[in-house]
Amino acid sequence: MSYENLLISDREAVRTITVNRPDKLNALNRRTLSELDRAMTEAGRDEKVRVVVLTGSGEKAFVAGADIAEIREQTAVEARAFSAIGQDLMSRIQGSGKPVVAAINGFALGGGMELALSCHLRIASSKARLGLPEIKLGIMPGFGGTQRLLRLVGTTRALEMALTGEPIQAGRAEQLGIVNRVVEPDALEPTVGELAGQLAKAAPEAVRGILQAVNQGAESDLQTGLALETARFALCCSTEDMKEGTSAFLEKRTPTFRGR
Ligand code: COA
Repeated sequence: MSYENLLISDREAVRTITVNRPDKLNALNRRTLSELDRAMTEAGRDEKVRVVVLTGSGEKAFVAGADIAEIREQTAVEARAFSAIGQDLMSRIQGSGKPVVAAINGFALGGGMELALSCHLRIASSKARLGLPEIKLGIMPGFGGTQRLLRLVGTTRALEMALTGEPIQAGRAEQLGIVNRVVEPDALEPTVGELAGQLAKAAPEAVRGILQAVNQGAESDLQTGLALETARFALCCSTEDMKEGTSAFLEKRTPTFRGR
């Protein structure tokens, strides 16, 4: 499948999707949102792909937000549809049964921060800046940012970031638990590659179970979350990969998980 605004590359079981509009700092226009949606569907369906990495092209930006030029021309009805399209994409990423890692190589602003927040793990370059600057445009986040940031850092920090619109440095984002790790710019690609490679070797049923239990558990009461955990645990125990993992431990060797 060809894309106008995305680059797709595979390295073993890791698919990297790069938003590729560097002259617009990878801003998410409608076309790019729709291509990302298609690329996530393809990655989900492709059995060879076990992990997805999302990043931005060029030196400066991960994604500098939704496309402001497009937003400016929208009617309220179109804006509602635009928000729904963005929210659906972010929910699809968060709900993916394959881990999605954001490699935040620069500005992650507005829709770019929302995109990063929908990923399961976030590794940032020390030069990255993250923020929700929509307030400065007279609007507010519309791709899930108010909700995902709130759940990640609580009302105090979420309100501060959304109401002031001031971006924060990568190190601060790590302190707040918004990103998992910050590395030097040159180390971003190898660090993410190593992490993604590690995730790609894990048993897929266990990975899917953890993603679902944590994501849905975060939105459920404890009993519901625990019941989900039990069901997914039992499912893992029905796999050949469970036999392989436990046998490998007892035989003191490295397991090879085949996704069966
Ligand atoms: N939507 C559309 N175009 C965007 C964009 C966005 N979100 N962010 C950057 N661009 C475009 C600029 O208009 C400019 O295009 P041009 O060369 O045709 O004029 C190009 O990308 C480069 O951006 P520029 O502002 O010149 O780079 P900079 O280094 O001076 O500043 C930022 C970088 C990220 C601080 C600045 O681009 C910015 O504030 N972007 C908007 C962030 C934002 O508000 N996002 C939320 C959107 S809802």
